[in-house]
Amino acid sequence: MSKIIVTFSWILALTISSTFAATFTFHQALESFYKKAKPSMPAAESDGRTPTLNQKGATAPTLDYVTLSFLDFAKNKRVLEVGGAYGNVMLEALHRNSSTVYHLNDLDERHLGIAAFRLQEKIDQRKICMAGLENVQFIYGDITQPSWNVKKPYDAILMANVMRFLTPTQIDQAFSNLFTSLKSGGRIFIIAMSPYVKRYKSFIPEYQRRLKAGLPNPGFVENIRQYANEDSMSQDQLHTIANGHFMFLDDVTLSNLAQKAGFKVLECTFKSLSYKSDSWELDGRENVILIGEKP
Ligand SMILES: C[S@@+](CC[C@H](N)C(=O)[O-])C[C@H]1O[C@@H](n2cnc3c(N)ncnc32)[C@H](O)[C@@H]1O
Repeated sequence: MSKIIVTFSWILALTISSTFAATFTFHQALESFYKKAKPSMPAAESDGRTPTLNQKGATAPTLDYVTLSFLDFAKNKRVLEVGGAYGNVMLEALHRNSSTVYHLNDLDERHLGIAAFRLQEKIDQRKICMAGLENVQFIYGDITQPSWNVKKPYDAILMANVMRFLTPTQIDQAFSNLFTSLKSGGRIFIIAMSPYVKRYKSFIPEYQRRLKAGLPNPGFVENIRQYANEDSMSQDQLHTIANGHFMFLDDVTLSNLAQKAGFKVLECTFKSLSYKSDSWELDGRENVILIGEKP
């Protein structure tokens, strides 16, 4: 009987965690996500990017234009980072200003565990002063879930290098969730991948054909591996590419998606990479950024 109850509780816990966004304090995140499994960060690739543990890309080695704009705006405010992986931006934000209320979200609990552990290290080294650790929370959840909700809306949300993993339907839901998670006057900061990257350059002619034909979601690919340019990747990098869908975005598509969700677009443009990379760099339009405001 007790076995049945334990199994049932596990199924219930798994169902809840895959449906809702669950919030953890710093100590709870350390206990639940770090101390039990002790996940560790993989080694960085040659261009400085660190692969994620769930084959959802890699973390950027430098702070890009939109992340720097977010950091400036975030000071002393209440902010959320969606898909923040190992907490690079969180650590920078708290280093700059420890009274910023920072909520870090990710789909993978191991990433959140590593982020909590890295925060502990910075506090121990006195690089981050955390008088009020209750300012930091960890949100284990999926931004594309219709059940996504937050207790209190934020002043700003950063979503860097996450849109590429979503389908068109998931992107619509994510934008709707971003909108409801912000205060009026609050801002979203987004950086996404454009089709103009060396690694997948064989997709560009197909993308341009779709653009010319006026097709919706011209940058959506069912299986990204079919466009992988093996010449621009090491064997290790090739192995980090998951089979499956991928979304490249351009300035017009990203801007339309944000406006459809109700945002006023303040800035939306192509940007070059913020770091050197033989595998990604093509012509200076590798990324597309958007800063938007909830009216
Ligand atoms: C390429 S990494 C980007 C990490 C960091 N934002 C950066 O730019 O360096 C993508 C991260 O987004 C997370 N992610 C992907 N889909 C997500 C979703 N639907 N909801 C929340 N996080 C997601 C992944 O787990 C991964 O940690």
